Amino acid sequence: MFNHGILERNSLLLVVGILIVVAIGGIVEIAPLFYLESTIEKVQGMRPYTPLELTGRTIYVREGCYLCHSQMIRPLRDEVERYGHYSLAAESMYDHPFQWGSKRTGPDLARVGAKYSDEWHRAHLADPRSVVPESVMPPYVFLANADINVDTIADALKAGSMVGMPYSDDMIANAKADLIAQATPDADGIDAFKKRYAKAEARDFDGDPKRVTEMDALIAYLQMLGTLVDFKTYQADAPENRR
Ligand code: HEC
Repeated sequence: MFNHGILERNSLLLVVGILIVVAIGGIVEIAPLFYLESTIEKVQGMRPYTPLELTGRTIYVREGCYLCHSQMIRPLRDEVERYGHYSLAAESMYDHPFQWGSKRTGPDLARVGAKYSDEWHRAHLADPRSVVPESVMPPYVFLANADINVDTIADALKAGSMVGMPYSDDMIANAKADLIAQATPDADGIDAFKKRYAKAEARDFDGDPKRVTEMDALIAYLQMLGTLVDFKTYQADAPENRR
C-alpha cells in the first residue's frame, strides 16, 4: 500500500505530485486540439487581408474596438440565429493577434461584413447615435480626416508574412499600389489587385474619392468580416476542406 503520509509531510514532494497530476489533465484537454479536424482544417475561400483591410484591422486594434466587440460566434442556437454560421477556427487563421474578444458591450462583429451599406458605417462611426439612438458606442469621426501613411504598408505585409500570413513577393511589392487602388474608384491596376486577392471589394468606402483615409480602411475591413467562406457550399467534412 502506498503511504500517503510521505506526500503529506513533505511539501516539495507534494508540489511535484500536484504538478504531475495537473500536467496530465492539461495534456488530455489540449493535445487533441492539435489533431481534431475542426480545429486544424483549412477552409476554402480564406485569403490574407488586402493591404487596405490590414490597415483597417490595425486601426480596429488601435482604437480598442475589441474592448466592446467580440469576433467569435459560438455554436449555440441563439448566437447562430442572430449572427449567422458559427465562427470556424480557420476564419481567424491569419489574425495576429486574434480578435475573438471577451466582452460584448456591442454585438459580435465576426459576420458584420455586407450587413450594412458603406453610408451606414460612415454615419455610424462618425456619430453612432445618428443611426442607433440608444447606442453607447463612442464616435470616431476623426477617422474620416486621417490620411493613411501608405509608405509603411509593404513593411506591414512583410512582417505579417514572417508570422504566417501567406503574402507573396508580388503582393508585398504591390502593397502600396493595391492599398490605393482598393479605395479609389476606377483605379489603374484594379484587375491585378483583384487577381491577387479573391473576393476583395474595391470602391470608395469613405465617400471622399480624392483621399485614402482611415475611414476607408476601417470600413473596408468591417465589410469583409465573415464574408470569405461561402457557407452555401461549405461542408465541414468535405474533402477539399481537409488538409
Ligand atoms: C464602449 C463600447 C464600444 C466601443 C469601444 C465600440 N463599440 Fe461598436 N457598438 C457598441 C454598441 C453598444 C453597439 C450597438 C449599438 C449601435 O449599433 O451603435 C455597437 C455597434 C457597432 C456596429 C454595428 C453592429 C451590428 O451588427 O449592428 C459596428 C459595425 C461597430 N459597433 C463597430 C465598432 C468599431 C469599428 C469600433 C472601434 C472603432 C467600435 N465599434 C467600438 C459599443 C462599442
